Amino acid sequence: MPELTRTLPASWYRSPGLYQLERRAVFLKSWYLLGPVTRFREVGAKVDYEIAQRPLIAFRCSGNGHFPGSHEIQVQCAKTEQSLRHNVTPTGLVFAALGDEAPDFNEYFPDLEPLLQKVNFTKLPYRHSIKYEGRFNWKTMVDGYQECLHCQYTHPSFSVYYPPTSYAVHNHQNFSQHIADPEKPDDGLFLYFFPNCTLNVYGGGMSSFRVCPTNDPNVTRMEFDYYHMESGEKFEQYFKFVRQVALEDYELCEKAQDNLVKGIYSEGILNPDKENGVSFYQGRVFELVCEQYAADQLVQAEDKEATAPQKEPVMIITDVRDRLRQ
Ligand SMILES: [Fe+2]
Repeated sequence: MPELTRTLPASWYRSPGLYQLERRAVFLKSWYLLGPVTRFREVGAKVDYEIAQRPLIAFRCSGNGHFPGSHEIQVQCAKTEQSLRHNVTPTGLVFAALGDEAPDFNEYFPDLEPLLQKVNFTKLPYRHSIKYEGRFNWKTMVDGYQECLHCQYTHPSFSVYYPPTSYAVHNHQNFSQHIADPEKPDDGLFLYFFPNCTLNVYGGGMSSFRVCPTNDPNVTRMEFDYYHMESGEKFEQYFKFVRQVALEDYELCEKAQDNLVKGIYSEGILNPDKENGVSFYQGRVFELVCEQYAADQLVQAEDKEATAPQKEPVMIITDVRDRLRQ
């Protein structure tokens, strides 16, 4: 019987030093979904983002069409106004990288385009955004998004439309597709983009959220953007439904983080079928953090004057490596 995948240890959800490693290993090397082109309709209207303590702005710089083309969108570092790389997909989604450390967009997401072609994102007008902080690590929220074992008891209203018994997650390079009902493959599009963005198209609308880590590993800022074909009552109904699901997840994450902090839970095994999305993204975090740690060690060995590494992440990584060798 193949060995079951184990979760990241609880210490990875509460260590400031480990977060600083994640920041450099994962966040500074990734691409982020900023939204569809309809988010940037008005020339000069700046939209603020902050990902892993890197503030950026995105805006439409020219044009008078119904929505901007790729060359009419600018993404900049908010501090230096330096242009950042962005990519607009053929059906109208805008992604950006935080700096030069991220690979090319098509290298990062080599097989994303065929899935995005299912939706014309230029037809989904922007309606509303909300953001707030929660007492949980960014991975606590992504863990929950990447599986649906919790759906039946946490999301009774969602489970009526999308029965968790048939729920499946298909992992690709740097993203996962969630299929709520394999009998109806065109019913909604649910995507997770590594490390912290999601896209949820269903019920005539679309929500996209970013799980933004703060410097405190126990605090995460949730940022939601909502889009819908309709305004007024139809949008309000949709909004009420999706907010209910989001608040149910929020409460679950705060409780899970309490247990991670108190030491009630240390680590466990993942269901190879029902939690394949969790093992996929956690494995990627683990691999990138270990690579970063090894690279940092090399640099420090070459530079004797370098500051000694922080003790906490060293101990955590050594602990995990020892465990894997057992
Ligand atoms: Fe959930």
